[in-house]
Amino acid sequence: MLDLIVRNARLPHEAEPTDLAVLDGKIVQVKPALDAQAAEEIDAAGHLVTAPFIDSHFHMDATLTYGQPRVNASGTLLEGIALWAELKPTLSVDEIKARALRFCRWSIARGTLAIRSHVDISDDRLLAVQALIDVREEMKPWLDIQLVAFPQDGFLRLPRARENLLRSLDMGVDVVGGIPHFERTMADGADSVRQLCEIASKRGLMVDMHCDESDDPLSRHIETLACETVRLGLQGRVAGSHLTSMHSMDNYYVSKLMPLIMEARIHVIANPLINITLQGRHDTYPKRRGMTRVKELMQAGINVSMGHDCVMDPWYSLGSHDMLDVAQMGLHVAQMTGIKEMQAVFQAVTANPARALHLDGYGLDVGCHADMVILQCKDPVEALRLRPARLFVIRRGKIIARTMPSEPVVTLDGVEETVTFSL
Ligand code: FE2
Repeated sequence: MLDLIVRNARLPHEAEPTDLAVLDGKIVQVKPALDAQAAEEIDAAGHLVTAPFIDSHFHMDATLTYGQPRVNASGTLLEGIALWAELKPTLSVDEIKARALRFCRWSIARGTLAIRSHVDISDDRLLAVQALIDVREEMKPWLDIQLVAFPQDGFLRLPRARENLLRSLDMGVDVVGGIPHFERTMADGADSVRQLCEIASKRGLMVDMHCDESDDPLSRHIETLACETVRLGLQGRVAGSHLTSMHSMDNYYVSKLMPLIMEARIHVIANPLINITLQGRHDTYPKRRGMTRVKELMQAGINVSMGHDCVMDPWYSLGSHDMLDVAQMGLHVAQMTGIKEMQAVFQAVTANPARALHLDGYGLDVGCHADMVILQCKDPVEALRLRPARLFVIRRGKIIARTMPSEPVVTLDGVEETVTFSL
């Protein structure tokens, strides 16, 4: 007797619907018209069934603080940083936890079941570290959370950052972060990359740096990050988040840089909503988009993901943690509107971040965790177009969130008609 069968599931790359059988939290069979019985059955009715969305870049310590102590009136990065600095001394472990736990419920409702969250280690009290470690443990049955030790105020620039970062790793933070473009000089930035990669190498940890989040085409810390990754044998274990300076770089230099990124098997993480919001602010017209070269990086075979970065915090007042918002913005900004390109963007919020985060058992193959989302649409492109209801969110074979299907009815001349937004 099986635990669950999801029938008539349209998988992202399959034309014909199939059935998925679940036992003990794992997918045990994938085939059409399965002749078996289960304790629970769901009829997906030909809707898209995907492995869960993954957010590879987020800040759970700052999320849902919108309006505290006041809103970001200008919407700029600098006012956001000033707001966060005002807010930090007023925070407590319990307050951060309550916000993060509330946010986790938003994520689950949207079908996002893994999040890599940076956590600011600049405050000597490390309250956010303690709070998010507690949240990571508490949410484990339903949501995979990876934490990155993020020296928001600089690793070399802030005297206690090294000590705080090491303490946070001792407390159980998973990944080493960094912010080289924020150090005082280019040389300090490169030095911070070297030191942080050495810490990761010594401790056997992954690296994920905010890297070159700048419109300055000469911000080239990704070059050092790639070089250090190879020197220390960290290939495939390092992520470069943002890389927005690549948008503004000279094409000739990029032709040298891309092979370095490939050689180091760096995972690239773009954050379309935040990049299009914060970059190019010093431009008049034309204004740069600022997002890294997603299309070209993907074409080169580099693993590219897209993260949400912020939801209702000092830097970004919008969002509900819907990774389809991220992907939709990403495909527009990258001009990836070709059919294969849109499918690739869907991968950037599902399979690609699973590789970047080294998640085990991700996917819809036999043997994978029975984690999946049923959407009210037929394929990934329609998911991007409609950002439809997550009808069922399933974790280890159990339904953990539901949304009623959206069925708008138009009445014209007394005649009712349901609108599906499909051809
Ligand atoms: Fe970030």
